[in-house]
Amino acid sequence: MSCHSHNEELIVREMTIDDLAAVFHLGEKLFTSDFSPSMYRTWDEYEITTLFNSDTELCLVAELDEEIVGFALGTTVEKQNSAWKYGYLVWIGVRPGLQKGGAGHMLFGEIKKRMIEQGVRMIIIDTDADNEAGICFFEKEGFDNTQNHVYMTLNLSRSR
Ligand SMILES: CC(C)(COP(=O)(O)OP(=O)(O)OC[C@H]1O[C@@H](n2cnc3c(N)ncnc32)[C@H](O)[C@@H]1OP(=O)(O)O)[C@@H](O)C(=O)NCCC(=O)NCCS
Repeated sequence: MSCHSHNEELIVREMTIDDLAAVFHLGEKLFTSDFSPSMYRTWDEYEITTLFNSDTELCLVAELDEEIVGFALGTTVEKQNSAWKYGYLVWIGVRPGLQKGGAGHMLFGEIKKRMIEQGVRMIIIDTDADNEAGICFFEKEGFDNTQNHVYMTLNLSRSR
């Protein structure tokens, strides 16, 4: 898939083993601890390697002039008591200087297509409530039915 309206050289393709370091370091720039104050969403090398092992077809990169400038990592989930197969888009990111240039849209279009091919009937994402860019992006891609989710912590070093 290539995007002509934004940049002739931007392509989206499946991630390979050689891309893992570049994707990891780009993710480190994007998903810092202030990106997601809740601990449950932590970017580390296991995120990439686990998804790459389990769902290679849903691990995509955006490449511009042979450089990795974005990625989308997903998996599928089958819930008990539900005939539906869900696609979970776990991480999507575009290099800061290239955001708003259509790379995210290309990545999402390709992962959605691949999820549909795998029988997915609903795609789910989650992000922090203050991630305005992310939420605008997902709304533009057609996501709705936003659910609020509460995360709480119990600091055991303070409890007696
Ligand atoms: C979310 C993200 C992947 C979008 O990628 P992108 O390449 O910038 O997105 P696109 O250029 O394809 O944008 C498509 C649409 O999303 C919306 N959008 C994207 N960035 C936006 C921003 N900063 N503010 C408001 N709307 C935005 C716009 O409606 C845009 O359409 P338009 O260009 O016609 O206005 C990118 O902002 C990013 O990497 N954010 C940090 C990581 C993150 O939050 N990931 C999501 C949770 S895992």
